[in-house]
Amino acid sequence: MDEHDMLLSPAGVDALRTALTRAGYTSNGIADRLGPQATGGAARNDFRAALRATEDRDPLGTLIRVFICDQTEPEAAVAAALAPLTVDEALAGGLVERHGDGLRAGVDLEPYGDDWWVLADLPASSRPGRPLHSEHVLGIGGATQTLIGAAVRRPVETALDLGTGSGVQALHLSEHSRRVTATDLSRRALRFAATTAALNGQDWELLRGDMVAPVAGRRFDLVVSNPPFVVGPGTTTHVYRDSGRAGDAIGAELAAAAPGLLTEGGTMQYLANWVHVTGEDWGERVAGWFAGTGLDAWVIQREVADPMAYVNLWLTDVGEAADPHRMAAWLDWFDAHKVEAVGFGIVSLRRAGHADPAVRVEDLRQRVEPPMGERIAAWFDRQDWLRARDTEGLLAERYRAAEGLQLRQEATMGDEGWAVDRQVLAMPHGLRWTEEVDPLVLALVGGADGRLSLRDQLALLATAHDVAAEELAEAAGPIVAHLVERGIIEPVTA
Ligand SMILES: C[S@@+](CC[C@H](N)C(=O)[O-])C[C@H]1O[C@@H](n2cnc3c(N)ncnc32)[C@H](O)[C@@H]1O
Repeated sequence: MDEHDMLLSPAGVDALRTALTRAGYTSNGIADRLGPQATGGAARNDFRAALRATEDRDPLGTLIRVFICDQTEPEAAVAAALAPLTVDEALAGGLVERHGDGLRAGVDLEPYGDDWWVLADLPASSRPGRPLHSEHVLGIGGATQTLIGAAVRRPVETALDLGTGSGVQALHLSEHSRRVTATDLSRRALRFAATTAALNGQDWELLRGDMVAPVAGRRFDLVVSNPPFVVGPGTTTHVYRDSGRAGDAIGAELAAAAPGLLTEGGTMQYLANWVHVTGEDWGERVAGWFAGTGLDAWVIQREVADPMAYVNLWLTDVGEAADPHRMAAWLDWFDAHKVEAVGFGIVSLRRAGHADPAVRVEDLRQRVEPPMGERIAAWFDRQDWLRARDTEGLLAERYRAAEGLQLRQEATMGDEGWAVDRQVLAMPHGLRWTEEVDPLVLALVGGADGRLSLRDQLALLATAHDVAAEELAEAAGPIVAHLVERGIIEPVTA
């Protein structure tokens, strides 16, 4: 990208970096300056303590007041804080804007991670009444963070961020990828991403175009995407939100593109919304996206919203919640397509090169223990382990129940004491899965202490329950595979 593709000239970016570094405008620098109470308050948009702590308007104080607390500050103080970047350059690049007799933030200049900065647009809520630019560049919100947390952070050669916006996903990729490519449809977004990259001393390949078009014919070890996933009639008013595709087609489109984008063993992860249609199983619908791709697929539904709440959320996001026509048109489209809810979740795909890929679509709405990316990587590892063994192979292994595994029982008091109605195994860590089990499976998991092979364990169970050992072994195959897939029992490695 040449210099015209950034918010500032290359020299201007260097000057801004010098100013921010000199002032200590980093996450840690700000936390040190404000202390825990004011830092915590500022994170909740309560700036009272932060403003008290920065009254002397030294460079760090001024930067905090302008870019964190969204204050209008005297031009002389802002000039001193941004130097050697001049106020004229900062105004021309849109970093600051004139307001009253001072200057205020024109963009979201966010200190991020230990010593990064991310440039994005200010959210609709900070400039009420001002319409969002149609190519609004999204800051670091909830969805962005979900993908950051879910991405598998293992070292790779090549990584791609589709729909990079501010460039925040690419920043994370740069930590564990030798080469980073980032794309966007929006020229404006690419200007922000290029500035974020340069400000952080990064060198990414930035390409413009529609979804995978700019990287057609190329393959990557890791692809991440937080695409414009919002479900609706297919009209585009804001490019960060609307894909221009009707319904949830963008999720299906990315699935179809994945086999051609990934190297052997490569991983692709993206956020998606999917419709829940009356009379249709949402899981089957989403699983259908991966039919014929040959990819292992794991889809986790994290949230479900009803149409009214959904439309409200996304109209509020662009500052248009009060427009009754927009809301009615959107809800009418949902009605016409029998959409009763919209699911949000994470799609993780891997090109494992097997004829019989594992496709799982599940609801997982409980709070999970981070890092999610490690859990997802481990799930694919377990798929590999399972794939390398037939039932005989599974039976030959020894297993141990997951650490801290809990048993929860529901029982009803009857004439002969407690009658157990339901037994549930619960994992207290990780994804915190729960699994209803019958007494035989419970006994099998309870006996998994790593000493006996599963075959020997089953022989003992067969005797105790008076069933044929071979029958039990045959029935146990898929059950054990499922328990291993979820990490409820773990193979003991010699
Ligand atoms: C939800 S934002 C995500 C931004 C950033 N990657 C993040 O995680 O915060 C979606 C991004 O996709 C871009 N985009 C929208 N439609 C696109 C398309 N058809 N092809 C490529 N990028 C697109 C938008 O400009 C925007 O930057």
